[in-house]
Amino acid sequence: MFAHLTPLPADPILGLSALFNADENPKKVDLGVGVYKDAKGRTVILGAVQAAYEHMVANEGTKVYIAPTGWPGFTDACQNLVFGSDLKAALEGQVAAIQTPGGCGALRLGFELVAYATPEATVWVSDPTWANHVPTLKAAGLKHQVYRYYDRETAAVDVDGMMASLEAAKAGDLVLLHGCCHNPTGADLPVEGWQRVVELMLRKGLVPFVDMAYQGFASGLSADAAPVRRVFEAMPEAVLSYSCSKNFGLYRERTGALMVKGQQKDAKAALTTNLAKLARENYSMPPAHGAALVTTIMQNEALKQAWMDELEAMRVRMVGLRASFVDALRPYGLDNRFGAVASQTGMFSLLALTPDEVKRLRADRAIYFPDNGRINVAGMTDANIPYLAESIASLY
Ligand SMILES: Cc1ncc(COP(=O)(O)O)c(C=O)c1O
Repeated sequence: MFAHLTPLPADPILGLSALFNADENPKKVDLGVGVYKDAKGRTVILGAVQAAYEHMVANEGTKVYIAPTGWPGFTDACQNLVFGSDLKAALEGQVAAIQTPGGCGALRLGFELVAYATPEATVWVSDPTWANHVPTLKAAGLKHQVYRYYDRETAAVDVDGMMASLEAAKAGDLVLLHGCCHNPTGADLPVEGWQRVVELMLRKGLVPFVDMAYQGFASGLSADAAPVRRVFEAMPEAVLSYSCSKNFGLYRERTGALMVKGQQKDAKAALTTNLAKLARENYSMPPAHGAALVTTIMQNEALKQAWMDELEAMRVRMVGLRASFVDALRPYGLDNRFGAVASQTGMFSLLALTPDEVKRLRADRAIYFPDNGRINVAGMTDANIPYLAESIASLY
């Protein structure tokens, strides 16, 4: 049965981590894997999460199963975060929310619901998009097309190009949008861009699927949610995958949610039961701990405030690193070439380097990031930024 299977190549980003770990250069810098790191290069447990964890260990009296749809307190908390309480109340009855194993689990379940309901739908993804999007939608049995998104010349979104590509979509197709902090480019749609996409989707009968993996990392919790709110207000049907991996630092706890808005006022029951069925067939029920931590934090004013303060500190640190990086390139006359890094958002930017230049930085300077030029901004520190700038300048 398995004899014809051959080993697959290592995941390009995880493979880089192994190379980084083996590198003995004391100046080595890891800008690869997408996890937040503090000024000492550590991915620490947030204080609010630690406090909630201690509460959970002291109070968790059973390990009995949770429901396939997860903890209602958790899915409520995610909806409050992303929609705000007013829109959440306005959408009551129309939106189903289910806890999932991380954002990836939400993406997979969302794609499976689409494949189950409308197998002929095509998913339109941005060029480029996060490396896991296309494999996940394909594994769910869907096909995809690419829409123009990132303009390498301007290092910003080519909104006209995006509109022109999406004109080719047909009614019932899905448009995969990054809620904020576009991965891998760091270039988000401007406000008027979101407006134009919503108008186009309404006119053509397309359905948005917003992937929200970095709420709070761009401009702040509620500013980052504004486009999603607009989408869920305006569109008759919409899908949202939500991840708590980055903003709560819960990576390994696999904590996420899927929210689906149906057209009818009472769509919730049909959507919830169909999602629960798909979850049951896949993994039965989601892991409990991460969601319990988020619920505890969001239901306790002091912990919630502590978490928001920690999240804001992460965001502000990344904004500062972006500015420092461009400042450090100024003496080499490279601040214009890489200037967009300072205005882009979230954890990633796509540096204007060729794959060959990226490989030279890795081989000669022990600076590690994937060949497409995507850097994890949180891997920079005040200490390594001068070395990064000098190394990039040495390429020219
Ligand atoms: C754009 C995007 N979507 C979804 C995810 C899923 O995150 P997780 O499954 O770890 O919650 C990630 C994680 O890197 C991401 O970058």
